[in-house]
Amino acid sequence: MSTTASATPHATPQAARTPSRKIDSLFHERWSPRAFTGEEIPVETLLGLFEAARWAPSAFNAQPWRFVYARRGTPAFERFVAALVPGNQAWARGAAALVAVVSQEVLTLPGQSAPAPFPSHSFDAGAAWAQLALQAYLWGWSTHAIGGFDAKLAREALALPDHHHVEVFVAIGRQGDPAGLPDWARAREKPSDRRPLADLVREGSFAG
Ligand SMILES: Cc1cc2nc3c(=O)[nH]c(=O)nc-3n(C[C@H](O)[C@H](O)[C@H](O)COP(=O)(O)O)c2cc1C
Repeated sequence: MSTTASATPHATPQAARTPSRKIDSLFHERWSPRAFTGEEIPVETLLGLFEAARWAPSAFNAQPWRFVYARRGTPAFERFVAALVPGNQAWARGAAALVAVVSQEVLTLPGQSAPAPFPSHSFDAGAAWAQLALQAYLWGWSTHAIGGFDAKLAREALALPDHHHVEVFVAIGRQGDPAGLPDWARAREKPSDRRPLADLVREGSFAG
């Protein structure tokens, strides 16, 4: 099982990724390429990524995330690709797998007798996706979240149950050569910077 080793180093130009404080490198070295090699991803590796996601924190420990995966070359993969907007189809079809990150909007909490809306369903699923992405990075795989999809096609492709929400698709693969990308995507195939910490953090209130 290739879940533990970083078999393929990420080809990561780091110019735009200098953190302003000393942090673990995985946080700034992970980025979202669009070019993938043709390498297949073992199901065991995917299950390892979902295992990492499984340990995310959630309100009431409700774990309102669900994952549906499709590996390239399967009918499900073609359905997932078809649900993406054309600009995303252009590169995401090269991924080894696409994963739908789904959240449960309504659920029955432990100790409750009836289902009720669960306000943090998206927030909690976001935490799970982040853990998946970081674990993938540690194992030498790249991930790229995709919010640009047709909600109706996605719902049909996944046979989505009621009260479930498709948050994103995630393209997963080994980082590849950008030469095969459309021009617009090739031009963006580099790690991006972030807003400075001073834009993001206040002490006490926004008025401070
Ligand atoms: C919720 C979400 C939706 C996104 N949707 C798309 C998308 O539709 N197409 C795309 O190419 N990238 C998409 N991205 C990738 C972001 O553009 C990318 O994560 C961001 O620019 C930061 O770059 P980095 O991940 O390389 O650090 C999405 C990311 C997230 C978290």
